[in-house]
Amino acid sequence: VPLQAFNSFHIVAKAHALVRIASEADLHALLADPELRASPKFVLGGGSNIVLTGDVKALVLKVELMGRRLLMETDKAFIVQAGAGESWHELVAWTLAQGYPGLENLALIPGTVGAAPVQNIGAYGVELQDRFDSLDAIDLQTGQVFTLHAAQCAFGYRDSVFKHGAGAAAVPDGAVSAGAVAGGHQVLGLKDRALILRVRFALPKSWKPVLGYADLDKKMAEHQCAHPTAQQIFDWVCEIRRAKLPDPQVIGNVGSFFKNPTVTPEQCVDIIARDPKVVHYHLADGGVKLAAGWLIDSCGWRGKSVGQAGVYEKQALVLVNRGGVDSPFGATGGEVMTLARAIQTSVYERFGIRLEPEPVVV
Ligand code: EPU
Repeated sequence: VPLQAFNSFHIVAKAHALVRIASEADLHALLADPELRASPKFVLGGGSNIVLTGDVKALVLKVELMGRRLLMETDKAFIVQAGAGESWHELVAWTLAQGYPGLENLALIPGTVGAAPVQNIGAYGVELQDRFDSLDAIDLQTGQVFTLHAAQCAFGYRDSVFKHGAGAAAVPDGAVSAGAVAGGHQVLGLKDRALILRVRFALPKSWKPVLGYADLDKKMAEHQCAHPTAQQIFDWVCEIRRAKLPDPQVIGNVGSFFKNPTVTPEQCVDIIARDPKVVHYHLADGGVKLAAGWLIDSCGWRGKSVGQAGVYEKQALVLVNRGGVDSPFGATGGEVMTLARAIQTSVYERFGIRLEPEPVVV
């Protein structure tokens, strides 16, 4: 099965087998087959955070579980539930139209609802974990459906229990209980083990805008608007993203290719000595976050290419496929990874910082 249309980088690769999961019953039927139950599986959402470096041998489960509704109201929040296969951006737009604001800063992020908790998506000062209530998932080995609350998901910056395999060392405490729920015995990570079925969001009734991001402040000044509505923030975030990020339906990409690194204040002093213009933000815990896009840009990578894999002209943190979205001659996963490693090396040599990729390399 060709996967080019199922990954937002539009890399040419095949799955040995792919099953569309449109209902929970589809999953139970699949797991009832002893051969299919035993075979390794790869869970695919919108394919907007993966780099395919070859054909996928595992059985690909393409999640198409739909539905979204207001589940209940508490004193403090609207609890909205959405199927894992729903489009993330359409969910954000729908919640606003229904009068449940809170997700507007996360507008226009590509991908599905089920993929959102995996990397704890974030933008303009809001992360998924800030609006997360709980999720239901199925253990692909036992067929058991289980519920996870925030602590059990072990959310971190672009990280969760779903990004780590069972042997991963660096998974925080909460993940252990997640494993215990999943299998009756302890597993540390749930990567390739669990498939997210639906996610519930807690959208606060006492809505307050989340501002303070330079790009949003600029919009407020431009529109002379000191008290924006959720809809205005949604529109501005869409405008900001359209101006600096490539639309994956036109130019293949997976958003930011590297995470923004965090350094100690001492390291930051050292880096400022190397280049006083380095873009950095002080975090509440004393750490300093550096803009990876700036580090890459200042090493001269903007607009450069390896084969058909390139560094986006308007945002050096984004790698793009210079072939068309359905071209058989576009970037290969190998070219993307070669470019990524060359960037890592030059940023390391200049600043002593190791950039960590954000997408999942398959
Ligand atoms: N910058 C440069 N040159 C560049 C790119 C950026 O100098 O080529 C500078 C910018 O001028 C700015 C700073 O770096 O001062 C930060 O850039 P930007 O505001 O575009 O945000 P970012 O740190 O590059 C992060 C997230 C994005 C998210 C935005 C807004 C990560 C890895 N990326 O990008 O998330 O949309 O902030 O909140 O944390 C994603 O995860 O895929 C993603 C797009």
